[in-house]
Amino acid sequence: MPRVVIAGCGFVGLATARLFHSAGWDVVGLTHSPESAAALEEEAFSAVACDISNADAVHAMATRHAAPWDVVIHCASSGRGGEDAYRAVYFEGALNLLEALAPRRLIFTSSTSVYAQADGAIVTEDSAAEPPRETGHILRGTEELVLARDGIVARLAGIYGPGRSVLLRKFFSGEAIIEGDGGRIVNQVHRDDIARALFVLAMRGDSGTFNVSDDTPMPQREIYAWLAQRFALPLPPSGQIDPHRKRGWTSKRVSNAKLRALGWTPEFPSFFDAVERQPELVALARGG
Ligand SMILES: NC(=O)c1ccc[n+]([C@@H]2O[C@H](COP(=O)([O-])OP(=O)(O)OC[C@H]3O[C@@H](n4cnc5c(N)ncnc54)[C@H](OP(=O)(O)O)[C@@H]3O)[C@@H](O)[C@H]2O)c1
Repeated sequence: MPRVVIAGCGFVGLATARLFHSAGWDVVGLTHSPESAAALEEEAFSAVACDISNADAVHAMATRHAAPWDVVIHCASSGRGGEDAYRAVYFEGALNLLEALAPRRLIFTSSTSVYAQADGAIVTEDSAAEPPRETGHILRGTEELVLARDGIVARLAGIYGPGRSVLLRKFFSGEAIIEGDGGRIVNQVHRDDIARALFVLAMRGDSGTFNVSDDTPMPQREIYAWLAQRFALPLPPSGQIDPHRKRGWTSKRVSNAKLRALGWTPEFPSFFDAVERQPELVALARGG
C-alpha cells in the first residue's frame, strides 16, 4: 500500500487526504494544533498534531510513523503570518519534512503569486517568477530547496470551494469593489481540482514545477458582472486599486497546459461552472 503524509490537513489538505485514502493509500495527516487534529478524529485516516517548523517534533513524528514514505505533500499554510511565519512554515517546514521523512517525492504547494507579471500576459512555468516582496522570496527559496531534492512544486492559483470563496463572500456581503477599470485578470482553482492535481502529480509527475489553475483566467469586472446578472444584484461599485493586497497587484493568465499534459483535467474549468453546479458554494457564501 503506498503511503503519504499530508502536512497541513486544512482546506486543501483534508480534501487531498480523503482522495488519497479513497484511492487505497495509507494516509497520515498533520495539523499544527491538537484541536485541529481532534476535529479529524472521525476521518478514515489518522491525523496527528505536529509542528513542521519544529525539527524535533517532526523527527519524533517520523519515529512513531516509521519510513518508508512514498510521498509527502507540504500544504501547510502560514495563515496571516508575515516573513517569520513564512520562513518557519514553508522553508523550515519543507526542510524538516525532507530530513526526517526522506520521502521518495515531496510535493510543495506554492502559489501563482510568485509571478509578478502585471501586463495580462500568459505565464507558464518557464516565465519569470520574481516576486517583489520578501514573503515571495521565501516561497521561491522553498521551491528551490524542494526542486534540488527531486521534488515537485505545485503553484496554486486562488483557492475556492465550499465554504471558501473570497469573491463570493465579498460579492454577497456588499464589500466587493471593482478595482480601477476591473481589468485585472483573476486566476482561480477549485479545491477538489487541486486535490486531483496533487494525486496526478504524486502518481505521474517528474520533479519540476506545475501551475495548478483552472482553464479560465477572467477579468475581475467580468466575474462581478456575471454574478450581478446571475443573482439579480447590483454591480459592485468601482474603487481604488489596492497595491498592498496580500497576493500583490498582478494581472496575468496562468497556463495549466503542463499539468493538463499529465492527464489532469479540471472538473470545474471555470469559476462560473462551479457556481452553477455546486449550489452549496453560493449557499455557504451567502450564509456568512
Ligand atoms: N489561499 C489561497 O488562495 C492560496 C493560493 C495559493 C497557494 N496557497 C497555499 O495552499 C496551501 C493550502 O492552503 P489552505 O488554504 O488549504 O490552508 P488552511 O486551510 O489554512 O490549512 C492550513 C493547514 O496547515 C496546518 N498548519 C499550519 N501551520 C502548521 C505547522 N507549523 N505545522 C503543521 N501544520 C500546520 C493547519 O493546522 P491548524 O488548523 O492546526 O492550524 C491547517 O491544517 C498553503 O500552502 C497555502 O499557502 C493558498
